[in-house]
Amino acid sequence: MADRNIFLIGFMGCGKSTVSKILADKLRLKMIDSDEYIENCEKMKITEMFEKYGEEYFRERETDFLRKIGEIGPAVVACGGGMAVRRQNAELMKEKGIVIFLTAKPETIYERVRYSSQRPLLNNNMNIGYITKLMEGRMPAYESAGDCKVETDGRAPEDIADEIIEIYSNI
Ligand code: S3P
Repeated sequence: MADRNIFLIGFMGCGKSTVSKILADKLRLKMIDSDEYIENCEKMKITEMFEKYGEEYFRERETDFLRKIGEIGPAVVACGGGMAVRRQNAELMKEKGIVIFLTAKPETIYERVRYSSQRPLLNNNMNIGYITKLMEGRMPAYESAGDCKVETDGRAPEDIADEIIEIYSNI
């Protein structure tokens, strides 16, 4: 592994942030949430960024973030749900650490995100049908970006973190 970063990828609401915090604690690594990092740099919420500058602007900031990770990490990185979709991002993550794809069923995702208004892509599409379609479209990118896949449905975050540590220690 070129670097010690652990990137957690997967759909919105699959548990990346929660699991990352536990994982970082257990491994005594820094935890970075890419969305929070970008919001702090831009001094603006993601919803506002989408409104003002459009999605593509935000996607560029995600790639910038990965280019800079060498100066910020090593860390457990909770990636925004669309991070792995750009091929360039997937390559940068592979180069700079291990990539764990967290999975969850659309129904599980819906239950976890339904009351949030912080995700511009779901704000007018908060339903299982839309989540399923977006997830299916992204699945090939998630699958190919991830070095391995960890299921999260019905599991405690602590248990998920332990599985990732097991994988990490065997690499
Ligand atoms: C997005 C997921 C969000 C955030 C942005 C776009 C996506 O992050 O980066 O709203 O395209 O899936 P979370 O996965 O942390 O919700």
